Amino acid sequence: MQVKINTLTPELFLELYTSVGWEPPCIEQAAKALENTLVSFTAYENGKAIGMVRLIGDGGMSFYIKDFAVVPAFQSKGAGSLMMWELEKYIRESIASNWAVSLELISTKEAVAFYKKMGFEEHPCDYSGPGMSKMIKRS
Ligand SMILES: CC(C)(COP(=O)(O)OP(=O)(O)OC[C@H]1O[C@@H](n2cnc3c(N)ncnc32)[C@H](O)[C@@H]1OP(=O)(O)O)[C@@H](O)C(=O)NCCC(=O)NCCS
Repeated sequence: MQVKINTLTPELFLELYTSVGWEPPCIEQAAKALENTLVSFTAYENGKAIGMVRLIGDGGMSFYIKDFAVVPAFQSKGAGSLMMWELEKYIRESIASNWAVSLELISTKEAVAFYKKMGFEEHPCDYSGPGMSKMIKRS
């Protein structure tokens, strides 16, 4: 298994996105999101893309994980852990040595155990309330 950086195309993004049952955006919206992504990671098995994750953020204080997905037939074989390892390595290598930055996400219900294994803390917790989100639509 291999993880490559910034090989995700809008077409591949939509293929991997729908493979886990998510309702996809249109290809133009996916292309815009990829254009403004800090870095994408794609996992390959025998040359075939089997998983992805996008990292977005300001590069200084805050990073955010989006669209973490592994094709169902390849789940629980280590692809998610490998991509997370590469993603955290990318962050560590892109920040100054005395900085601490925050890496955040909103988990699907199914992936909570995975993220806990990867060292993420569930919110609300001792020092914070719950994460919050809102969808905005052009009227
Ligand atoms: C969540 C996901 C990305 C994890 O990728 P993966 O390749 O299956 O994960 P790994 O094989 O590296 O698993 C790492 C560890 O987490 C565990 N794990 C993975 N997914 C899990 C799940 N859904 N529930 C419980 N444990 C899980 C594995 O058993 C493994 O444990 P181990 O180290 O003791 O063997 C993948 O399962 C997936 O695409 N799920 C559907 C889409 C989704 O919900 N994505 C999250 C978006 S926020």
